[in-house]
Amino acid sequence: MRTARRRLTNAKVERIPASGIRRFFDLVSGVPGVISLGVGEPDFVTPERFREAAIRSIKDGLTKYTSNYGIRPLREAISAHTAKLRGITYDPDTEILVTVGVSEAVDLALRATLNEGDEVILADPSYVAYVPGIVLAGGVPVAVATEERYEFRLRAEDVEQAITDRTRAILLGFPNNPTGAVLTDEDRVGIARLAERHDLLVYADEIYDRLVYGGEHRSIVSLPDMRERTIYLAGFSKAYAMTGWRVGYVCAPAEVIEQMMKIHQYTVMCVPTAGQYAALEALRSGEGEVLRMVAEYDRRRRVMWRRFNDMGLACFEPRGAFYCFPNVSRTGLSDDEFAERLLKEEKVVVVPGGAFGERGRGYVRACYATSLEQIEEACDRIARFVGRL
Ligand SMILES: Cc1ncc(COP(=O)(O)O)c(C=O)c1O
Repeated sequence: MRTARRRLTNAKVERIPASGIRRFFDLVSGVPGVISLGVGEPDFVTPERFREAAIRSIKDGLTKYTSNYGIRPLREAISAHTAKLRGITYDPDTEILVTVGVSEAVDLALRATLNEGDEVILADPSYVAYVPGIVLAGGVPVAVATEERYEFRLRAEDVEQAITDRTRAILLGFPNNPTGAVLTDEDRVGIARLAERHDLLVYADEIYDRLVYGGEHRSIVSLPDMRERTIYLAGFSKAYAMTGWRVGYVCAPAEVIEQMMKIHQYTVMCVPTAGQYAALEALRSGEGEVLRMVAEYDRRRRVMWRRFNDMGLACFEPRGAFYCFPNVSRTGLSDDEFAERLLKEEKVVVVPGGAFGERGRGYVRACYATSLEQIEEACDRIARFVGRL
C-alpha cells in the first residue's frame, strides 16, 4: 500500500502568486512583430566605460570573492554619492552594504527588521516584489490606496488612518512603479512626522531617484532625524542602464546593516566582482550618461503621455520612473482583458495594473524606456485598438 506523499513545498511560498508581469513576458517571447512596453528596463546598453571597467577587472585577475560588504572603493564612492545627493554621510565600513540589485536589498531589509506579525504600510499600487517580500519575512502588508485624483501620491493622512499598534514600518517606493507618481515635500514631511510619532522604520526604495522630470528628487532620509529610522535602498539598474549586472546597495544605521549583512553573507556571499567594478565606474564617470538618458526618457514620456490622452485614455502626468499609467476603464474592458486583447489583436504588450495591487485595476502600465519610433508605432496600434472597441 502506498502512503500519502508529504508536500514538497512550503505553504507560505505556495500562497504567493507568481508575478503578473512575467506571465506577459512569457506570452510574447519569440512572437515576431511584438512591441513591448511591458518590461521595466532601459533600452540603452550599459555605457561603454562601465563595461570596459568590468572587462579590465577581469583581465587584471580580480575574479575572487570580495568583502561581504562589497569592494571598499565602491562603498566609498556610494558614501560620497549619497552625501552629495542626499546630504547624509554613511560610514563605508559599517553603514553600507552592496547587494544583488535593489531586489536583494528590499528582501534583506525586510527580513533583518520584521518580526512575525509586524505590519508594514505600503502604497497600492506598488512594485510587485513588496507584498511577497513582506509576507516571506513574516510581516503583514497593509495596503494604502493611492488615487489618480491625488496623482497617486501616498498622502500622510491616509497613512495615518492605517497605523495600528502593530505597525512597524512604512515602505516608500517613490518615484513609483507602476504609476510614475512622485511625492511632494508635504507628503514626505507628513510621513516622516508619523514615523517619528509612532516610532516606525521607513524603507525608502529610491531606485528611480535619478529618473525625475521637471524637478529634483528629494528623499525622506534627508529630513531631520530620519537618518536613524530610514533604510535607504538604491542601485544601478535603472539610472545607469545596468539591469543585468545586478548591483544595488543599502545605507542604514550600523545595527541594521550588521543584521542584513549576516543574511547576505550566508545566502549570496557577495555581489559578482566584475559588476561591482562596473558600478564603481558608473559612480566615478557616469553622471553625463545619466543626464543624457534621463533627457531622452523625458522626451519619450511627453510623447507617450500626450498620445494616451489624445486617444481618450486619461493618463495623469507621470513625473518619475519610466512608466505611464493610463486609465482604461472607459473602454469597458478590465485591465486584464485590455492587455490580453491588445496583445492578441495589435501585438503590443502592456501590463495590467492589477498586477501591482487592487488599486491598479482599471489601469495598465506602459513603459517608455524604448525608442520614440517604437513608442509612436505602439501608440498608433493602441489607438486603432481603442477605436475599434
Ligand atoms: C521599485 C523597484 N524596486 C526595485 C526593483 C529591483 O531592481 P534591481 O534589483 O534590478 O536593482 C525594481 C525593478 O523593476 C523596481 O521597479
